[in-house]
Formats: sequence, structure tokens, C-alpha cells
Amino acid sequence: MIILSIDTSCDETSVAITDGRKVLSNVIYSQVLIHKKWGGVVPSLAKRAHEEKIDFVVEEVLKKFSMKGIDYIAVTQGPGLAVALEVGIKKAKELAKQYHKKLISVNHLEGHIYSAFVQNSQGNPKHGFNFPYLVLIVSGGHTSLVIFKDHLKYEVIGETIDDAAGEALDKAAKLLGLGYPGGPVIERLAKEVNNEDFHHFPRPMLKSNDLNFSFSGLKTSFYYFLKKRPQAYNISTAAVSLGQLASSFQEAVFDTIIKKTEKTIKQTLIKRLIVVGGVSANLYLRKKMRELVKKYQGEVMPPSFKYLTGDNAVMIGVVASYKAERKIFVKDIEKLDRIPRMPLV
Ligand code: KG4
Ligand code: ZN
Repeated sequence: MIILSIDTSCDETSVAITDGRKVLSNVIYSQVLIHKKWGGVVPSLAKRAHEEKIDFVVEEVLKKFSMKGIDYIAVTQGPGLAVALEVGIKKAKELAKQYHKKLISVNHLEGHIYSAFVQNSQGNPKHGFNFPYLVLIVSGGHTSLVIFKDHLKYEVIGETIDDAAGEALDKAAKLLGLGYPGGPVIERLAKEVNNEDFHHFPRPMLKSNDLNFSFSGLKTSFYYFLKKRPQAYNISTAAVSLGQLASSFQEAVFDTIIKKTEKTIKQTLIKRLIVVGGVSANLYLRKKMRELVKKYQGEVMPPSFKYLTGDNAVMIGVVASYKAERKIFVKDIEKLDRIPRMPLV
């Protein structure tokens, strides 16, 4: 089943062609350099860049394929930036109408979950589905614990009640004058001081009985900590302190994530873990996750993470193939609209 998929949910214009779980073609135009100097994604600039690039990205992906060979068109409906989602949806509608294809709408978070099962064109990695899985989504917009029960069936069992983990890292990096996105810079600085915890910032919600997260209190306490010690984080004069601050903040975020995930494993007895979203690119977090599941004879999957971290249309195409198998199509193409705060279930 050959699907052309589009994702313009945030700051990547991405179009892919997939065959079931296999990637046949994948083109991504990243806007990171456009937004970098503003310290975050600027919606009006994102919209303009998507509009400027979408036709080109579709043409690129179709270089070796003809629309005749495409069975369905798929597009991300939400969650994401409204003005960005609109560009992809408009293009998907145009293609569906022009070439008389059925349209499949996909939740971006479902895409992230299925990203763990993407295969290359040779069908590797070979691992199949062995439900249920425990999924940790950690990105700039989401921190959620989800039980992936069966194809297209999910139960959200924990979520952030305020900031997402990536958002917290980005805000801490901004306070330290480290630029955007903050996660990778904090990872590098923390590694330089062996990921040690020097300042013991608070671990929010660890004592609560539920599986929810909260990171805004941590951010506030970090802010007041810095305010009291203006000299401590002068980049040119106190590199070690900067590393210590970054490492301690990262540790507070990751320790919270690990402990909540452990609580979830104990409660659900699900030991197969999928970690997805931008923050899952962090090698130190991945190592901590592997150590955690090892304690319970579990596994973190998959081993490779090309499609796990960044946004891409491949994962949208993979979800769409399972929807197509179940004949879940958009009924009225004209009426399809973006849902910026689309929940997973
Ligand atoms: O999933 P994503 O690309 O975009 C969405 O939010 O949907 O996630 C972006 C987030 C940012 O907050 C960024 O700082 C964080 O992922 N991130 C990282 C790393 N790379 C990206 N956080 C920690 N370590 C990294 N290596
Ligand atoms: Zn995403």
C-alpha cells in the first residue's frame, strides 16, 4: 500500500512515500535556522516557510515516483501550530482532488508512536508488533505516558499538567543564554561535567500518586536560583558553573521522567518501552531508560532512532497504512480542518 504523506505540524516541511512500514522516499525541509535567532518557533515565519517550500518538497519526493502509483494521500491534522498545519492540509486536499485519491488524516502523536516501527526500503529492522507497549513521548510540546494497546488503540495514563520536558529544557537554556533549541546544548554541557547533580533542584510531582508530570515549578526555582547568583552563570568567566547548572537542571528533569516511568512499569507490568519525541535524542536519557528497563528484564525499542526524534512525514504514512487497512478515510475532504490541540484519544 503506497502512501504519500505530508507533515507540516511545526517547523519541518516533510513529505514522504511509504509502503506499509517501509520508507521509499523522504524529504524534509527544516526551518530551524529561520527560528533559531528568535529563540523559538515564530508562527508567521513558519507559515511562510511552509508555503514557500511545500510544492518543492512534494516535487522532490515524487522525482522517482508517479502519482499513478500512489494509493492514498495522508496528512497530519494535529496537534501542532494552526497556521503550519493548514499548509499541509491544503496541499493534501489539492493532491487528493486532482488525482482522485482517498485522504487519510493522522494525529501527529500517533505518528511519533509508530515511528518506532519504521523500516528502511529493505524492510529492516525486522521487529514486528508485540503489544502492549509503554510509550513515553518527550518533546517540546508533550510529556506523556501512553499504553499502546493494539493498532490505533491507546490509553494516556500520565501527562504534564504544565510545561513539557523539552519546553523546560529550552526555557532553562534561554535563562542561561544558550540559544534554541536548548536540549542539545544542555546535553553537551552536562556531559562535560559527567552528568552530575550539583544543585539538587526540586523533582516536581514525584511524591504524587498519579503518573502526571509538572515542570513549571522546577523552572521557577531555577529562575530564582539564578537571580540570587548573577555571577554564577556568566558564560565567559564561569564555564564550569554553567555546566554544573545545565547538568543539575537536566538531572532534575530526567530523574523525574525516569522515576515516573518506573512507577508506571510497576503499576502496569509493561516492560517493553518506546521512547519518542525530540528529547529522546538525548543519549544520556536513552542510557538511563535502558538501565531502568534492564532492572525489570524489559527492553527499550527500537535500537535505531533515525525517525524517532525529529518530525517527519514517514511516521504519518506508517500510521495511515494501518488506517487504510481498516478503511478509516476522511469522509468529506472539503471539511477536513486542522485541530491544533488534537488529543491522542
Ligand atoms: O519532537 P520535537 O522535535 O518537536 C516537538 O516539540 O514536537 O522536540 C523538540 C524538543 C525541544 O525542546 C528540544 O530542546 C528537545 O526536543 N531536544 C532535546 C535534544 N534534542 C532536541 N532535548 C534533550 N536532548 C537532546 N539531545
Ligand atoms: Zn513532533
